[in-house]
Amino acid sequence: MIIHFMKDDHESSTAAYMALFRAVESARPEEGRLFSDPLAASLLPTSLRLVAEIAQVPAIGRVVPAILDVGWPRTRSSGVVRTRLIDAMVEEAIMDGAAQFVLLGAGFDSRAYRLESARRVKVFEVDHPSTQRAKLGRLEASGESFDHVRFVGVNFEVDDVARRLEDAGFDKRVRSMVVWEGVVSYLSPQAVDDNFALLAGICSPGSRLVFTYVDGRALDGSVHFKEATRWKGWVRLNGEPFVFGFRPDDLEAYLSERGFHLDSDCTTAEAARRFNAELGRAELGSELYRVAEATKVGPCPE
Ligand SMILES: C[S@@+](CC[C@H](N)C(=O)[O-])C[C@H]1O[C@@H](n2cnc3c(N)ncnc32)[C@H](O)[C@@H]1O
Repeated sequence: MIIHFMKDDHESSTAAYMALFRAVESARPEEGRLFSDPLAASLLPTSLRLVAEIAQVPAIGRVVPAILDVGWPRTRSSGVVRTRLIDAMVEEAIMDGAAQFVLLGAGFDSRAYRLESARRVKVFEVDHPSTQRAKLGRLEASGESFDHVRFVGVNFEVDDVARRLEDAGFDKRVRSMVVWEGVVSYLSPQAVDDNFALLAGICSPGSRLVFTYVDGRALDGSVHFKEATRWKGWVRLNGEPFVFGFRPDDLEAYLSERGFHLDSDCTTAEAARRFNAELGRAELGSELYRVAEATKVGPCPE
């Protein structure tokens, strides 16, 4: 099998599409949207920014999500509902005392700027340098203040994330909230394993880790998921194929061996039933895409 990892000179396309989905969601009327991400459109490359602008045009804008959904069924709806769920998890963790907020593979995520609670803690955005460079340029152009954020460039395949975070001022005695959203699916199993071990080594007990993953049975073909073929084709077309997944039944033991207790694990289909129902929306999430939350247990890092 040939595995294509992130190219050194290209910003991540899947990260840009995720930001587009958030921009399109933010163009909905206030009473019907899952969240508002006013920065999302400014973080997009020019071609996608145009699409986000069309989404803001009254009436005509509604065709944008419809077209995205025909091309890649449930990708957008799964993406925005995962944003809504993880926003709630971040707010809760910071309210419960997490004083550091780490975004691993941050892409064009704007939580550090749009969530009130994130402005009160130390934030670390960790990402591949090519994506991070593009984001920094657009952040500067947007005029948004990012003084509370430290930017850490890494390649998860080869770099020691723990050391890089500590060099940037991360304090392993302090409770943290770590979000690893939309990333492990693009990494080798070895890199996923290594990075879980590094995280276990720097997260103090009680720290929380949220990560998303693709159900591994969609990748090995042992279970048929309706939208899998088009979704896998779409990320492959963008040069970032899914190469890693967990089997949900194995996750609790995997995390427990690595110093984390699994608190929750749900599909974006379940999250959509919860959050979209509150808004009277019928959009479906996906059975193949999941959001897990875990707590660091065991001794303090040395
Ligand atoms: C699908 S995007 C998710 C971005 C963001 N977390 C979100 O959900 O909107 C994947 C992110 O992982 C990063 N990434 C992928 N492979 C990486 C690697 N080997 N090292 C560092 N970052 C990587 C990309 O730069 C990109 O920002």
